[in-house]
Formats: sequence, C-alpha cells, structure tokens
Amino acid sequence: MTFFPRSERREEDIFPAPPGVAPDPSTDPAAGRDTKAISIEVAQANDVASMARLHAEFLPHGFFVELGPRFLRTFHRTFIHSPFGIAFVARGTSNERLGMIVGTTDNAAHYRWLLRKRWLPLAASGLASLLVRPRLGVRFFRTRVMRYLRGMRRNLAQERPSETSEKNGAVAVLAHVAVDPAARGRGVGAALVRRFEEAVRAAGTRKASLVTFAAEEGAGPFYEALGWHRTAERADHDGREIAYYERQFVDNA
Ligand SMILES: CC(C)(COP(=O)(O)OP(=O)(O)OC[C@H]1O[C@@H](n2cnc3c(N)ncnc32)[C@H](O)[C@@H]1OP(=O)(O)O)[C@@H](O)C(=O)NCCC(=O)NCCS
Repeated sequence: MTFFPRSERREEDIFPAPPGVAPDPSTDPAAGRDTKAISIEVAQANDVASMARLHAEFLPHGFFVELGPRFLRTFHRTFIHSPFGIAFVARGTSNERLGMIVGTTDNAAHYRWLLRKRWLPLAASGLASLLVRPRLGVRFFRTRVMRYLRGMRRNLAQERPSETSEKNGAVAVLAHVAVDPAARGRGVGAALVRRFEEAVRAAGTRKASLVTFAAEEGAGPFYEALGWHRTAERADHDGREIAYYERQFVDNA
C-alpha cells in the first residue's frame, strides 16, 4: 500500500473542484497521478449493499461478517435510519463507492432505539444466518448470547433520559471505517473520520470512542495521526488483543 505524504495531497484528491475550475496540469503536483475526485456524502438506502461489501471485504474479522451479507446489510441500514446513527460514503466520479464509515452520536441511545424499533429484522436475519451456520451458532451461544441478553434487559429497563442528560452522558462510537485499496493513501479515510467527528460535534456529544485490533492488522497509527488517544487494551470475546481509542470534543460543553 502506498501513502502519499500529507504535503503531496491536494483538496482535489478528495473533493471535486468547483464547477468550471479545472486543475492546471502545469502547476498541479498531482498531475500524472490518478487523482479522480472523491466526494464524501451522507449514505442513502441504495448505498447499503456497497457499505456491506466494503465491510465484508476489508474488515473481514468480525462476528457480524460471519453472519453473512444479508445480516450485514440489515446492520448497516440501522445506521442510516437511527436518529443516533452516522453513515457516510466516499464516492468516485462514476458514482462507485470507494469508502464508508458508520457510527453513532450516542451509542446507548442508538442501541435503545435498535431494541425498540429494529429488533425484529435484526433478530430474524441473525437467526436465519445462524440456522445455516451451525458452528457459528454454537460459538454465538457460547460467547455472546448471555451478554446480549443482559445488555437488552439493561437497555429496556432504562428510563428514557431527558434530552440534556442524554447529551451530557453520551458517548459516540465510530463503529466501522473502510476504504477500497484503490483509493487508499489519498486522505479518503481521514476525510471520512473528520465527517464522523463533525456529526458527533453537531449532535452536542463530547466524547467518541472506537476499538481496533491492537497489533499491526489494526489501524491504531491511522487514528493516532487523526488525534485519537489509546486508552486501554484487552482481549476480546474471541481472545484477540484489541485497543480502545477516545477523542474528546471539549468545545461542545
Ligand atoms: C485504515 C483506512 C480506513 C485508512 O484509509 P486511507 O484512505 O488509506 O487513509 P488516509 O489516506 O486518510 O490516511 C490518513 C493518515 O493515516 C495513515 N494511515 C492510513 N492507514 C494506516 C495504517 N493502516 N497504519 C498506519 N497509518 C495509516 C496515513 O499514512 C495518513 O497519514 P499522513 O496524513 O501522515 O500521511 C484504510 O487503510 C482501510 O480501509 N483499511 C482496512 C480497514 C481498516 O483497517 N479499518 C479500520 C479498522 S477499525
């Protein structure tokens, strides 16, 4: 994978030039390189299949990926529909989706919304996947079912908090970001994370968190370059070392 140093990047690498403003090849240091314009847009229902494909291809390690494309599509749809969801896609000039990011402005509120409004489609596609993947079903019951049930009970028992307390205690979560290898190293991942952060700030949330693999296969240095701080490390439910990252937005106070 090749990364262009920050000094070689131009806005035109990421965002289309304004209409009528063509890059000048004699002064453009990016001339001769593939600098097709890429725009970052709010994800729509017709982006869901591409988002799920990017997730499955470039973030293949998660349990949800093993549940199959149908479950992944249902999962990504929730970020588009939830009032606490964030979903952006990076599009190339031919409308192809080259990257995606999904997350929440308030993770606890998002999961309460999921349990109240979307539990049926999620449970149905999850169950359908487990029935045709019996070994995965065994692993699900062994490692996750009790935790999910406890979480559901806790969430459902919780009173709906007031608008203010919801915002003050809220933690946003950057759930998944992936960029097609053909578009990497040009600032697309950074632009997606910045749009996520803008959405979090706009919602009035002061803290965001994420997890990534702790070792080389994780994206820790990518997040550190963007100002996120590693706060902890531990083994996940499948025994892999994961790192926790956070970012504070103090001016939201
Ligand atoms: C991580 C990922 C989203 C980065 O996308 P990208 O478009 O290549 O990132 P950018 O071009 O915006 O890079 C931003 C900065 O992070 C650095 N960077 C990007 N990916 C990196 C990685 N895997 N490890 C270390 N540094 C990385 C870049 O060098 C750049 O630094 P610079 O500004 O000093 O030059 C992309 O590599 C990807 O999709 N990886 C597979 C999925 C994944 O790991 N997602 C995150 C898991 S939680």
